Amino acid sequence: MNPTIDQMHAHRSVRKYTDDPVSAEHITQAMRAGQMAATSSAVQPYCVIHITDSTKRQQIADLAGPQQKVHDCGAFFIICADLRKHMLIVEKTGQQYDSSLEAFLVGTIDASLFAQNFNLAFESLGYGTCYIGGIRNDLPLLDKILNLPQGVCPLYGLCVGVPDESPSSRPRLAPDAMLFENTYPTDAETHAGINRYDEAYTTYLTERGAQPSTWSAAIAKKFSYAARPGLGDFFRSKGASLD
Ligand SMILES: Cc1cc2nc3c(=O)[nH]c(=O)nc-3n(C[C@H](O)[C@H](O)[C@H](O)COP(=O)(O)O)c2cc1C
Repeated sequence: MNPTIDQMHAHRSVRKYTDDPVSAEHITQAMRAGQMAATSSAVQPYCVIHITDSTKRQQIADLAGPQQKVHDCGAFFIICADLRKHMLIVEKTGQQYDSSLEAFLVGTIDASLFAQNFNLAFESLGYGTCYIGGIRNDLPLLDKILNLPQGVCPLYGLCVGVPDESPSSRPRLAPDAMLFENTYPTDAETHAGINRYDEAYTTYLTERGAQPSTWSAAIAKKFSYAARPGLGDFFRSKGASLD
């Protein structure tokens, strides 16, 4: 294909790292690459918090699961939607910051465009990475640990480090189950795509020596209860409008 696409295909989440650090130069390179992602009207509504304090890292590792890799990886970052700088700009003009769900959505969208570029840059430098949604287990506690001001909304973490494992590639749905022409397919076609993927997924789990199951079974379990209630209340408390 080409080196960029090859790099994307080489992605696997890495959950075990050596003790080697992530160099400051590489962090700067990944930041610059991440920041070159497109951003709506150049508003750049995100920030990254690099957690270097070992005690804070352990507290975050504990609330995220526990997930000890958060403490043990070479570098750990928290990706946030950041409305703070816009609040300060508006308030400086003597006006009151007022936003709608649009501002929060743009914050989460642009933060994620940044994050994937940031992540890919680290992978291209030879590091392994793993996103950490587990930080949303207890955002009020995370907020206390980091002492975040109004407008800063943590979304997920990112572990980065020199890989100490070589996991196999986790298969994805076939492109034709995700790429549609002009409209959305019928439910029967959607079910057919899911069934094909379930077979591939079971083969993948069996080959990894894991308990064979289907993707559908995992999804049915995951989306039959309301996970992490209270997120809306937390983000509202940080000044985000969700209306
Ligand atoms: C936003 C986000 C949050 C995630 N949170 C976690 C997490 O808390 N812990 C973890 O071990 N993996 C986490 N993952 C990794 C996914 O489980 C992983 O990407 C998925 O199973 C696909 O596997 P692959 O990345 O190896 O291809 C997260 C991924 C994303 C995109």
